[in-house]
Amino acid sequence: MAIGFSETSMMLQLINQPAPEKMFHDHYAFYSSTSNYMARHFKDFADEVLQSGYLTIKDPFVLELGCNDGIMLRNFAEKGIRHLGIEPSLNVAAEANKHGVRILSEFFTEQLAESIVQEQGMVDAFLAANVMCHIPDIVGVVKGIRRVLKPTGVVMFEDPYLGDVVSKTSYDQIYDEHVFLFSALSIQYLFGLHGMDLIDVLPQKTHGGSMRYVLAHRGAYPVKNSVTELIARERAQGLDRLTTFKTFGANVEQSKRSLLILLKELKSQGKRVAGYGATSKSTTILNYCGIGLDLIEYISDTTPIKQGKFTPGMHIPVVPYETFKANPPDYAVLFAWNHAEEIMAKEKDFISAGGKWIVHVPEVRVL
Ligand code: TYD
Repeated sequence: MAIGFSETSMMLQLINQPAPEKMFHDHYAFYSSTSNYMARHFKDFADEVLQSGYLTIKDPFVLELGCNDGIMLRNFAEKGIRHLGIEPSLNVAAEANKHGVRILSEFFTEQLAESIVQEQGMVDAFLAANVMCHIPDIVGVVKGIRRVLKPTGVVMFEDPYLGDVVSKTSYDQIYDEHVFLFSALSIQYLFGLHGMDLIDVLPQKTHGGSMRYVLAHRGAYPVKNSVTELIARERAQGLDRLTTFKTFGANVEQSKRSLLILLKELKSQGKRVAGYGATSKSTTILNYCGIGLDLIEYISDTTPIKQGKFTPGMHIPVVPYETFKANPPDYAVLFAWNHAEEIMAKEKDFISAGGKWIVHVPEVRVL
């Protein structure tokens, strides 16, 4: 897998990506609601949308792209607010339906936007979380957004933030689903090409550092200082220059070397090492570093659909959390490092029994 960077669009993206149908289908293994923290986060996101002052008072209409199991939209459904979720993966969409969320199980395109406008009207808020960066035809989506958004409407979406990926060397955010890693610079440029303004940016803790972007039709709202300030910080960080990503590449290689040295050293001492969280991110680490069963004996994960399977490429077994509890290793690699706070709080027994964590961001170390 290779990534490319354009100094014109300031976009970092995958060069090749599998077809969307191969990734987002009826066996999609990602259920948003597996983390309590994420459920709270999306309730807060929904509340912030409702209190933002951008929605019309009379009968607002909220659309969410890639609503997954309805973790965010259920907060609108519960309040009787007109909403629509677009979710092509049927298994997670069915879960959303159980929570009273209205779903269209399709990919979002300009044509779909047109039919939504014809049948249900334009929207006040177009929301997405950890979805926009997954879509290769991002221009088609931006055109669809322009069509479906009321003149006073806003787009609010969040994704893992490139500034954090670079500063933390969290190269595991680069995997097949993440076709783009956005910055304020690249989002401002992309939407600017289609007559839209970036009007606000709100940093988020989720996914190891994310950014929420707020956009509107050009001139509809003033651009907040937060945007100007972040753009200046991004230029200072070099997110507009190729050289930054060459340095990033060297840092990634260093991270790989350090992790392998540590795991091999532990192995030679006869320590048992397992993984915690069969994340998508872990697939990048395992394959890029060449870590297999010789170094990690299993990966524990609470998601039933992942259990009993093997990690893509390196074929490490994914086991239920109960196996970790019953048979804890000496060291656990925290592949779900984005949930560190929640996991550390819940795994006090592991630590008090002498267990140790291995993390690789912002650098490889034992906690
Ligand atoms: P996720 O945060 O979605 O990362 P990615 O986008 O890289 O896949 O994945 C977290 C995974 O970790 C998910 O499969 C559930 C698992 N998990 C646990 O096993 N235990 C936990 O306590 C938490 C919070 C997550």
